[in-house]
Order: sequence, then C-alpha cells, then structure tokens
Amino acid sequence: MTAAVYPGSFDPVHRGHLDVIERARSIFERVVVGVLDNPQKAYLFSAEERVELLRRSLPPGGDVDVRRFSGLAVRFAAGEGATVIVRGLRQTSDLDSEFQMALMNRRLEPGVHTVFLTTAFANVYLSSSLLKEVFALGGAVDEMVTPEVATALRTRLRAPAAAVPTPG
Ligand code: PNS
Repeated sequence: MTAAVYPGSFDPVHRGHLDVIERARSIFERVVVGVLDNPQKAYLFSAEERVELLRRSLPPGGDVDVRRFSGLAVRFAAGEGATVIVRGLRQTSDLDSEFQMALMNRRLEPGVHTVFLTTAFANVYLSSSLLKEVFALGGAVDEMVTPEVATALRTRLRAPAAAVPTPG
C-alpha cells in the first residue's frame, strides 16, 4: 500500500488544491493532507481553522485524512508511513522552488519521493494569496473555493466594521 502526504499551507484551501487531492486519491491507496503550522508565519486562518476548512471542503466519505503538522514535511511524511510527498505544479515557474524542496527532502529522507501533479488548466492562475487579495478588494472568488471557504473568507475579511466609530 502506497501512502502519500500532500503538505501545504492551505491558507485557505482552494479548488486547485482539491483537484490535486482528488487526483492523488486516484493514484495512492492512502492520502494524508498535512497542514503546516509554522509559528514564524502569519496566516489568515489558524492551523485548526485551515484543517477544519479542508475537512469540510472535501467530499464526504472520500477517505482522505487531514492533519496539522509542524517541523519538517519529510519527517511528517515518514511518521505517517508515507513514501510519497505530493506537490501540485501550476506552471514552470513553480518548478524552481519545488525542485529545490524535492531535492532537499530526498537528501533528508531518501525513502520519501516527491511526485508532482500538474494542476488542471482551469486552476493554473489560482493561489491562496491571490484569491485572498482579490477577495479583500471586493472581487468574487466563489468559483475558486468551496462555499465553506467563501463563508469563512467573508467572515474574516469582510466583517461589518462595527468597531469603527462614525465621525460626528
Ligand atoms: O502551500 P505552500 O506554502 O506552498 O507549502 C509549502 C510547504 C508547507 C510544503 C513547505 O514550506 C514545507 O514543506 N514546509 C515544512 C518545513 C520543511 O520541511 N522545510 C524544508 C523544505 S525542503
């Protein structure tokens, strides 16, 4: 049985991530999505919230585990009994940093192999940071995320400005 770990920030999860998870599921017997909790990084959603949004965005009964992790992704993968790390590639520009990570990960844990899945054409432009920016500036992102994530974004980024006093 080949188990694969798909690590990432997922801040928040979008349809590009879900497509990678779905395709990983069709290839590997077990898929664990690893949500990185890096205290040095400022996230819009906490690790618990990101895990929860992923769980609620995945189809029910899809048999995908979602776990939070901190530290090295390869260590998390090895701890889960996985021999594969899955990463999605949107365009060739992703490859520079992904190649570097894959080689470093192999050096750290030679028994864990990185497998790249190319994203669906419709998601090539999608990234969590871009969709947060677009949403915060009033753009519509409903097609890029699940309704659960759209609601969470609305609550977090467009909460009524009740605390701001009105002049006069
Ligand atoms: O979704 P992201 O932010 O592109 O995911 C990046 C991630 C989480 C896969 C990468 O930053 C990572 O693996 N971080 C964990 C720490 C680690 O293993 N660092 C060494 C990478 S060679």
